[in-house]
Amino acid sequence: MAPPTPLNASSHLLEFLKTVHSQSLTQEAKVDWHSLPDQRSDAFDNIMRDKFIALDQDKCELVYHILRTINAKTVVEAGTSFGVSTIYLALAVAENVKRDTSATAKGRVIATEKEPSKASEAQKNWERAGTEIEGVIDLRVGDLRETLTKDLGVVDFLLLDIWTPLALPALKLVQPYLRPGAVIMADNTVKAAANYGELFAYVDALDSPFRRVTLPYEGGLDMIVYQ
Ligand SMILES: C[S@@+](CC[C@H](N)C(=O)[O-])C[C@H]1O[C@@H](n2cnc3c(N)ncnc32)[C@H](O)[C@@H]1O
Repeated sequence: MAPPTPLNASSHLLEFLKTVHSQSLTQEAKVDWHSLPDQRSDAFDNIMRDKFIALDQDKCELVYHILRTINAKTVVEAGTSFGVSTIYLALAVAENVKRDTSATAKGRVIATEKEPSKASEAQKNWERAGTEIEGVIDLRVGDLRETLTKDLGVVDFLLLDIWTPLALPALKLVQPYLRPGAVIMADNTVKAAANYGELFAYVDALDSPFRRVTLPYEGGLDMIVYQ
């Protein structure tokens, strides 16, 4: 029997998520992962421009679960693509706001994507996803090294689902806004370990305010806590 979903979501939204994850996996199966150009190159971006490369569904569900657990209301997503993981972030934040009894409670998912065509597809997907995630997402189109320099608020959670050379720059930009106990998740940390050297050295340094654990998800998924 399939395990239950942790999501508080309508059947429409659950069905929609199933569909977009399946589209993403179909695309990924056709990518020749062994002969890709360097992630810093235009050639790499050209190949990825029409691809979801969505965070796996089980990882998205875990992220949602963590957001509900830590009561996250301000979330930053580095790497939005067609907006699949953003839906989980927005749904969890919306649920956390609903649970809050104070009249002023607000939630925000700051999503950022450098490719305008991908950002536009993401917006369409959020409309298709429906009203449960309405009014929560603050989409910033452009290079995160510019879009994440201001107006972040106090950040509860950061998702690093980004080309690996951008992971450490994104963390450094968001770090001044992290609240104690904030959680950062980074994807593919075992599969792409060789490319995460700078991030790991920074997070694992002796005087670092971060602690991390690698979770046994496909390709590795790191959970980093800001102490
Ligand atoms: C793995 S995908 C994100 C998938 C998304 N989180 C999801 O689950 O649907 C990474 C995305 O980061 C974007 N990206 C790469 N470099 C970026 C940068 N410097 N600033 C903003 N976005 C960037 C890419 O265009 C790509 O769409």
